[in-house]
Amino acid sequence: FLLPPFSLSVHCLLLSGVPAVCDVSSESLLFARSSWCYVDDKVSRVAWLNRSNIIFAGQDKWSLDPRVDLVTKGQLEYSLRIQKVDVYDEGSYTCSIQTKQQPKTSQVYLIVQVPPNIYKVSEDITVNEGSNVTLSCLASGRPDPAITWRLLNPSADPLDGEEYLDIIGIMRNQAGRYECKASNDVKSDVKYVNVVVNYPPTIKKTQSSETQVGRMGTLQCDATAVPTPEFEWYRDDKRLSNSQGINIQISGTTAILVIANVTEEDYGNYTCVAANRLGVQNASLFLYRPGTGRDINGSACVSQSLWLLLACFACLFFKC
Ligand SMILES: *[C@@H]1O[C@H](CO)[C@@H](O)[C@H](O)[C@H]1NC(C)=O
Ligand SMILES: *[C@@H]1O[C@H](CO)[C@@H](O)[C@H](O)[C@H]1NC(C)=O
Ligand SMILES: *[C@@H]1O[C@H](CO)[C@@H](O)[C@H](O)[C@H]1NC(C)=O
Ligand SMILES: *[C@@H]1O[C@H](CO)[C@@H](O)[C@H](O)[C@H]1NC(C)=O
Ligand SMILES: *[C@@H]1O[C@H](CO)[C@@H](O)[C@H](O)[C@H]1NC(C)=O
Ligand SMILES: *[C@@H]1O[C@H](CO)[C@@H](O)[C@H](O)[C@H]1NC(C)=O
Repeated sequence: FLLPPFSLSVHCLLLSGVPAVCDVSSESLLFARSSWCYVDDKVSRVAWLNRSNIIFAGQDKWSLDPRVDLVTKGQLEYSLRIQKVDVYDEGSYTCSIQTKQQPKTSQVYLIVQVPPNIYKVSEDITVNEGSNVTLSCLASGRPDPAITWRLLNPSADPLDGEEYLDIIGIMRNQAGRYECKASNDVKSDVKYVNVVVNYPPTIKKTQSSETQVGRMGTLQCDATAVPTPEFEWYRDDKRLSNSQGINIQISGTTAILVIANVTEEDYGNYTCVAANRLGVQNASLFLYRPGTGRDINGSACVSQSLWLLLACFACLFFKC
């Protein structure tokens, strides 16, 4: 364990006729159950013991430990101070008081607590959708810290996992920033793991256009994909590129084809293709002659399967 250096005093107050208090004062990282001792007569001898070993007898130091010294205030206080407390100091300390009549002792049990420290956490990762992912988060501390996980977006609900968080068949909505938190009675420590989930493109929206000759026509294609897709535009089977009158604008997951000055020959069928290393998808869009009155906001005429394709054309031709 790596422990912060802090010091602690175990007080013993020797008040004639009043209860003598044995107590622990320190930073909040330590906890001790204090006990009481009563001194009802003149004190002749006092000593401090660690378990059964004498540390101090009166003013004589028996312990060789340089971290230990006495704090006394007149006749009344006879306190033990331990500097740079570590976990090995945990245990019972006894203030032994010899009065005229009989010896009395007062004990303090010292519990040393250590704040959690996450010493190992998974690196940020990128995986393909459907993979099994295990995130790890290992922490030290006293008492043993409890480990909890959350996916910070969107809901930040707690997830079911401790040191190891298993995600079977990860989905795209499980991508994001994972928070691992280690907590005990003292404090908590937090670390984060970023998880990127790759998936193939889906063209989720297309916008066809109805444009007069001589006007500017635009066709738009929106896809979702990780990593960001590459786009290509086709006129029938011919690949289109930026050239006189044609401008292809791509920003993130949106691609726009701009035809600066529409002519009769431009009317017809266009294809938007979105691709990343996990897959390809294409969709058909149309540049219509005005008056054909079609719904130009197509919902992705995707040629994934023949049935989809047919359904799509049926929609286009029968205006559903
Ligand atoms: C108390 O005793 C334990 C066990 O002998 C030792 O490891 C520790 O350093 C001692 N602490 C003090 C403050 O004397
Ligand atoms: C993912 O884990 C499940 C359940 O343990 C297992 O059936 C499946 O084969 C694993 N998939 C991969 C790709 O390892
Ligand atoms: C569009 O093209 C036609 C025919 O080439 C031309 O007459 C017209 O000026 C052009 N319009 C624009 C806005 O460039
Ligand atoms: C539009 O073009 C695509 C790709 O070339 C083709 O598969 C589809 O059949 C065409 N649709 C129409 C209605 O011409
Ligand atoms: C569109 O997808 C279909 C089916 O996957 C494929 O046959 C066709 O070649 C694709 N069109 C283009 C222009 O990539
Ligand atoms: C297409 O969608 C746009 C905005 O998404 C809307 O303003 C427009 O009215 C729609 N056109 C048709 C024909 O539905």
